Amino acid sequence: MSVLLRRARPDDLGAIMRLERDTFTDDAWPEDTMRRELASEHGYYLVAVDGETDAAAAPDAVFGYAGLLAPRGSGQGDIQTIAVEPAHRGAGLGRVLMQALIAEARRREAVHVFLEVRADNPVARGLYASLGFTELGVRPRYYRNGVDAVLMRLEVPQTVTRPADARPADPIEETQS
Ligand SMILES: CC(C)(COP(=O)(O)OP(=O)(O)OC[C@H]1O[C@@H](n2cnc3c(N)ncnc32)[C@H](O)[C@@H]1OP(=O)(O)O)[C@@H](O)C(=O)NCCC(=O)NCCS
Repeated sequence: MSVLLRRARPDDLGAIMRLERDTFTDDAWPEDTMRRELASEHGYYLVAVDGETDAAAAPDAVFGYAGLLAPRGSGQGDIQTIAVEPAHRGAGLGRVLMQALIAEARRREAVHVFLEVRADNPVARGLYASLGFTELGVRPRYYRNGVDAVLMRLEVPQTVTRPADARPADPIEETQS
């Protein structure tokens, strides 16, 4: 099976909401909120689907999704959400989704990307830290069941292209795509 990442479409809403409700049992977004997110001109939502049988009509077609909010010109972005179906976790999909959102934030000229994560979610916190996010502070009892939110920020890295044997101090080309 090949996994394909593509922009979310309005007809992915049902599959996204199934995964949303299964994943965030206490804090799932209402369907109307997710519909607005998918339609927002400032948003960028990706879904991970089976690359061979991609059919949004299939109820279980979406293995994962992630969303960025980054109005052009604001200089900032927010990771709105990310979820990967349990059967597909641990295979690198969450990291690829995050990297794709960060790349889009860079294309929109965001300098910083922010997110909030539950304090009791070491897997997500580990993923974000490994991508360069640092912890800015805590919002006490932010989530419905009294769990703190940890606020994190990434300084969006420039893309740097250099020959494989060049020293890190000698970039030959620096691009902001
Ligand atoms: C967080 C989540 C999206 C990660 O997706 P994933 O596809 O499993 O992640 P990856 O396989 O790309 O792993 C990325 C990193 O996460 C961390 N991680 C993944 N599985 C882990 C585990 N079982 N224990 C500890 N850390 C783990 C590691 O840092 C890992 O990097 P590494 O493989 O280089 O060590 C997924 O676990 C998920 O959907 N969780 C439920 C929803 C959620 O918590 N969303 C975040 C809300 S802020």
